[in-house]
Amino acid sequence: MNESETRALVESRLALIPDFPEPGVLFRDLTPVFADGAAFHALAEALTAPFAGRFDVLAGVEARGFLLAAAASVAAGVGVLPIRKAGKLPRAVLREEYSLEYGTAALEVHEGELPPGTRVLIVDDVLATGGTVAAAARLVERAGWHVAGVSVAIELAELHGRDALPAGLEAYSLLSY
Ligand code: PRP
Repeated sequence: MNESETRALVESRLALIPDFPEPGVLFRDLTPVFADGAAFHALAEALTAPFAGRFDVLAGVEARGFLLAAAASVAAGVGVLPIRKAGKLPRAVLREEYSLEYGTAALEVHEGELPPGTRVLIVDDVLATGGTVAAAARLVERAGWHVAGVSVAIELAELHGRDALPAGLEAYSLLSY
């Protein structure tokens, strides 16, 4: 399936929820896409296609990013690195904090999980303010790996998340609103 066919299929399965999680926000829910085998498979392949031959591993950001990174990694025949919310990983970790609308949160990876210089493509469901993916990118670089790019299903362009990413980092979104 080509990119425009995938875009149309995924968009046709999105559920649009007005006033969630707060009044005035139109929430784009990917769970019907995950539940549709053809749409999920096509989405997973679309996320890695622009970076073909330029990554060794996919990194998924907890929690919805796990679904996409896991599916895409199997399709691409590579491994997956879980980037977890704070306090979940059992061995020595690196931690990066990021801002939420109210307060902060943190992401963690295991130190030494991948060989130095591993090319990591970061996958998530949504790029909104960009704080989450920017923190993930800082983690990957601090760990001694290389960020090959960022790939998301949905970009909320009005929030200018790309501007929060490290300069020069290539970011792909299948759908942009
Ligand atoms: C959501 C989404 C992205 C992030 C995007 O995750 O899955 O990871 O927000 O927002 P940002 O670009 O403004 O940082 P959330 O923290 O809600 O976690 P979840 O996937 O566990 O629901």
